[in-house]
Amino acid sequence: MGVRILGITTNNASDDLIGELRALLLNHHVIVIANQSLDPEELHHFGSRWGTLLTHPSSAKQSNPYVQSLASSGLRKGKVFGAWHSDMSWHPTPPWITMLHAVELPSFGGATGYANQHLAWQSVDQARKDLRRSHRRHLPETTTFRNLKANHTGKGFGPQVPDSIHPVVRTHDETGREALYINPEFTTHIEGLRDDESLSILWPLWFHSITEEFLYRHQWQTGDLVVWDNRSVMHTAIIDYDSKRELNRVVIKGGVPV
Ligand code: SIN
Repeated sequence: MGVRILGITTNNASDDLIGELRALLLNHHVIVIANQSLDPEELHHFGSRWGTLLTHPSSAKQSNPYVQSLASSGLRKGKVFGAWHSDMSWHPTPPWITMLHAVELPSFGGATGYANQHLAWQSVDQARKDLRRSHRRHLPETTTFRNLKANHTGKGFGPQVPDSIHPVVRTHDETGREALYINPEFTTHIEGLRDDESLSILWPLWFHSITEEFLYRHQWQTGDLVVWDNRSVMHTAIIDYDSKRELNRVVIKGGVPV
């Protein structure tokens, strides 16, 4: 997971270059394009070459609602970790891609962690994939892990944001690879299970899904444009800095997860 690309310019990129970047993204899940000078309109334009951009409830009132400014002064807010998540998994068609461009960085810290959810699912042990008896009590006999569904909520961004139900294990619509698709920020419960049963499945999976071998930690440099595939990875902001950190984000609409 993760590849660093030097010596290209995303402004005025040819269709061939975008095709090559898309191929790299499918293979590596996270691509880092270094040294990009992109104002918000240029980021918007580059993003829209990859598909339809989605707005986010927290940027809906901005002059350009498609470019979300993520600005924070870190530890001063008193929070040390963001939760691991796949962007906007509460959306009925959650973004397949996120692009994040580093505008201003703290002198220390402020990395972003990525966790490969194909590796996470591949290495879940068979006993768990078969669903232990204790978890089956409220499920039809024919239920397997592969057809569990989970509820995702974006209510943290406003009461009007609808919840969505998505498969716990999704199949990547371009590569056909399966990945865990649950996250501790937006996933509330597994459908059809009591809360305690649901959490007793979710928490061990969340710990498993951030096993060190599945992780890449990106230490940002100003001008980095990081593009990632939300069908393949979860990510988290590491809030260990105490001065301004500002990144601009666009997200590209995906399909209904299956
Ligand atoms: C996010 O959590 O979606 C943004 C990641 C970051 O700010 O590092």
